[in-house]
Amino acid sequence: MSTIKRKLISFEGGEGSGKSTQIPLLENYLRDRGENVLSLREPGHTYIGEKIRQLLQHDVHASDMFPETELLLYEASRAQLVRERILPALAEGTWVICDRFFDSTTAYQGAARKLPLEDVQWLNHFTVQSCIPVLTFFFDLPPNIGQERAQRRSSRPYDRIENESLNFFQAVREGYRRLATDEARRFITIDAQRDPESIAQIIRKSVHEHFFS
Ligand SMILES: Nc1ncnc2c1ncn2[C@@H]1O[C@H](COP(=O)(O)OP(=O)(O)O)[C@@H](O)[C@H]1O
Ligand SMILES: [Mg+2]
Repeated sequence: MSTIKRKLISFEGGEGSGKSTQIPLLENYLRDRGENVLSLREPGHTYIGEKIRQLLQHDVHASDMFPETELLLYEASRAQLVRERILPALAEGTWVICDRFFDSTTAYQGAARKLPLEDVQWLNHFTVQSCIPVLTFFFDLPPNIGQERAQRRSSRPYDRIENESLNFFQAVREGYRRLATDEARRFITIDAQRDPESIAQIIRKSVHEHFFS
């Protein structure tokens, strides 16, 4: 299990906060050091997960999904991802970088959808067991700025969750902030309004300190 704990990193934060911009930079940094890296985005990356992703995000007939259903679908996709992709990769010494992982469920389905936090956290634990990131980078950004950025990024229509109100995304942010305080050993909060290069430097420095020094 110690291998598992050493090489798993997650990126968390609202839409448009810069996760997908930074992940390839960290991948390059690790590859330049001769490391193997697997980057994964939740939900998806397994046959079952892709089916669930479609249902959660893009199926117009799924717009009346109940919060409980949403929670269990994310957990189902994650249960498959952990066992089919993440654990085997970690077992062969590959780094795994997750663009969202179970903290997203705590923030979105717990804090924002207001499902009981202890139930959500119990399910997260049931799903991942000891497959817990050593480092979680939380990109903290006012949600209105994230929305503006995401709109500029692409003209595709919003998915089911992106369609939520600003209040919902404010609750997501508060959920993440609480987690970052409660789990201060694992979380590194990044001011996502900084420029991309200085954020990349903070990430490389943290990874270096945690893993290479
Ligand atoms: N630090 C930053 N400052 C300003 N704009 C940024 C920054 N990081 C990313 N962006 C831009 O914001 C948009 C959303 O970034 P992205 O990495 O896709 O966010 P996420 O994956 O968290 O949704 C992109 O157009 C990206 O170029
Ligand atoms: Mg992204």
